[in-house]
Amino acid sequence: MSITLAVAKGRLAEDLLTKLIDAGIDCADALNPGRRLIVPSADGSISFIFVKPSDVPTYVERGVADAGVCGKDTLLEENKPLLEMLDLGFGKCRLCICGKQEMHEAGLRSSAYRVATKYPRIARALFERRYVNAEIIELHGSVELAPLVGLSDVILDIVESGGTLFANGLSIIEEIYPISARLVVNRVSLKTRSDEIKRLLDALKEAV
Ligand code: PRP
Repeated sequence: MSITLAVAKGRLAEDLLTKLIDAGIDCADALNPGRRLIVPSADGSISFIFVKPSDVPTYVERGVADAGVCGKDTLLEENKPLLEMLDLGFGKCRLCICGKQEMHEAGLRSSAYRVATKYPRIARALFERRYVNAEIIELHGSVELAPLVGLSDVILDIVESGGTLFANGLSIIEEIYPISARLVVNRVSLKTRSDEIKRLLDALKEAV
């Protein structure tokens, strides 16, 4: 029986599949899925399901996927009871507080901020821990726009190359957390499908 692996669509999926192919698992079909959302590996041992990155933890927690691959940022935000088994080492970026240059120079000294972010839970917890009043403004993309148009004072977002910040005249005020792709596993699957999970884990260890 095949193991079901929920994969964050986009760059992480491409990195993962390329590495699995290098490790000898034929999943070229999954690398070019077209509009298909469920694609098996050539030997049928893995069934890949492609989902929105923030939905990976939900599929794994509910057990419809035995395991999943998504960024640590998503795991921190979704905070589901999953088993994190492996740091895959790709998809590296940093979760940062960023803002305009003047905010960068002043540092985070104010007692209240408007924070635009795709990560409302992480942001709330972060500012609460610091006893700083924060109005969290949840966005779903193009977060860098918020300080430019006066929607927020700062953003909490991932920075990879820094290109988006640079192109918009923003800079990092503080780095919060290093991020990379992780393999997570459903708690029940780990017991009931331990052989298949071990095989997947070994293949991924070899691949990365
Ligand atoms: C992510 C992130 C930043 C950007 C960082 O957005 O939210 O905007 O990438 O990458 P960089 O440092 O290499 O420029 P994404 O491309 O996923 O698009 P989105 O704004 O629609 O969420």
